[in-house]
Amino acid sequence: MATWSAPGKVFLFGEHAVVYGKPGVAMAIRPRVSVTVRKSRNPSHARSPYIEECFRSTGVQGSVYIRSQLPSSSGLGSSAAVTAATLAAISDEFGLGFSRDEIARRAHEIERKVQKGRASPTDTYVTTFGGIVLITGDSKRRLPPQNLNLVIGNTLVSHSTAKMVEHVARGRERTPEIVDPILEAIGAVTMRAVKSLNKPQPLGRCMDINHALLDALGVGHPELSKLVLTARAAGAFGAKITGAGGGGCMVALCPKNAKSRVAGAIDATGARSIITTLDTEGIRREKNG
Ligand code: MEV
Repeated sequence: MATWSAPGKVFLFGEHAVVYGKPGVAMAIRPRVSVTVRKSRNPSHARSPYIEECFRSTGVQGSVYIRSQLPSSSGLGSSAAVTAATLAAISDEFGLGFSRDEIARRAHEIERKVQKGRASPTDTYVTTFGGIVLITGDSKRRLPPQNLNLVIGNTLVSHSTAKMVEHVARGRERTPEIVDPILEAIGAVTMRAVKSLNKPQPLGRCMDINHALLDALGVGHPELSKLVLTARAAGAFGAKITGAGGGGCMVALCPKNAKSRVAGAIDATGARSIITTLDTEGIRREKNG
């Protein structure tokens, strides 16, 4: 029996613009998914297409047990975390010797297959390696770790990443003279933010600008706007949509002593808050128990 866990992720900057080769910054966060795999002749799995594909692609058979602190379908990378942790546990239980690079590569392939073509290479990379990652085109660079106090607000409004990505693509076809400069500006905000990662006030301002640009792209939602304004009013340095938008989650950067106030204000609107910070480990072996 082998148990491995993997963290969730948030986009701090640059979602949507990364799809067009602009820089983006994503970060692994504390809530984890944990997966236990046991060799078995009568395998029983959770009914997840991701898990089925992990077994099919490795050609082994086993039982799986999942525990998750990460809400699914909310843009926090839960499918990537489940896939990476399952592959790591399979590799361990069956002695396949996958490296982290191999796990990140296989996890991305599995996500592409299950999601029929479109999958974020960011999610699988960040959950496998942990840390703060600068993504530019196909290149990924880990940035120095920072102690960022984040509060995530989950609107509980369901959304589709594929539809949001499509929405931006259509806007770009219709009015490239408007949409391209917005994507360019998101890239510029991301590069400015990379220089301010250890300065919460300017970093928060970058988040506010990035949020306004995402709204301008048309991926906002009234519930996201409400939570962003609520977090700022409760003392956040800055707040923005995180991930594809159209529902899902927002993220706020907070002074340490304002985390609980911001989380409480988000919960009071009927949304669900998560207080979190950086995960530097990525996939990790857990004690079986
Ligand atoms: C979704 O979490 C982030 C997007 O930029 C899509 C992607 O990076 O694949 C919208």
